[in-house]
Amino acid sequence: MDLSGQVAVITGGAIGIGRGIAVALAQAGANVATLDIDPAGNAETARLVQESGRIGVAIDCDIADRAQVRRAMSDVLRQFGRIDVLVNNAAIYIDTSLTRGTYESQTREYERSIRICALGSYYCARAAVPVMQQAGGGNIVNIITEHIKEGHLMTGPGASGYDGAKWVMWRQTESWAVELKEHGIRVNALCMGATDTPMLRAVSVPIAEAAMKCEDVGQAVLNVLAHGNGGPTGMSYVFGTTGTPREQSLKEIAALAPSR
Ligand SMILES: NC(=O)c1ccc[n+]([C@@H]2O[C@H](COP(=O)([O-])OP(=O)(O)OC[C@H]3O[C@@H](n4cnc5c(N)ncnc54)[C@H](O)[C@@H]3O)[C@@H](O)[C@H]2O)c1
Repeated sequence: MDLSGQVAVITGGAIGIGRGIAVALAQAGANVATLDIDPAGNAETARLVQESGRIGVAIDCDIADRAQVRRAMSDVLRQFGRIDVLVNNAAIYIDTSLTRGTYESQTREYERSIRICALGSYYCARAAVPVMQQAGGGNIVNIITEHIKEGHLMTGPGASGYDGAKWVMWRQTESWAVELKEHGIRVNALCMGATDTPMLRAVSVPIAEAAMKCEDVGQAVLNVLAHGNGGPTGMSYVFGTTGTPREQSLKEIAALAPSR
């Protein structure tokens, strides 16, 4: 997969899966801008991108704030002049249960969950699409979760805020794909299981240790992009569901690539 000359924007790229995707895309030749609220982690990701011989730019941006997203995307355009790939990756997993905390705390956290995933992904897409449209095409990859698959619904304190936001992203994937097909913009989603990141380690260290690695998800994004213009759009690819041995997950990721 050769992404030379292309520009990728990745939200939540300061650590975890977002960093894994940033490095994978840079190793395939893309210049990368990461949007994040963690400046130190974001700077480190930019350094890793540069270590791969590409331009890496860390942009301080809370994607739940539409004015900040607009400024960040203008910044990307000023620096690179194009956006070929948008990866909507940032999310938070926080307690949004109905039976804990106070009315104030829980409603605030629920709003935060929805703002980051559901609204943030929309803000980023709304800013990037006209740029892609003008260039005649592009790719949006939404990072969702296996929870959209029946039988994988999450229970736990964060479930309704996290999963609710992810369901919105899932529906965005399909409706954007239909709307953007005529503009040559493909929209697909990755709906994977456990991946070893700070987010998962905060929930369960043993599950994180047995899980896929961030670079595996980076490879999954590359395999989706490898189909090129006219490739599948509106797909929600499920792979590496929690409990699947990593070797099997890697086979499922390899199967996302075009067959030779
Ligand atoms: N880790 C898993 O097991 C797993 C499984 C399936 C799906 N996912 C999804 O993968 C994505 C990445 O997850 P992760 O485990 O790497 O998470 P993480 O918590 O390790 O990293 C999330 C990143 O998003 C950033 N972020 C948070 N709020 C932000 C905001 N408002 N604006 C900009 N950046 C913000 C954080 O600073 C951080 O860099 C998420 O969408 C998550 O739902 C994760």
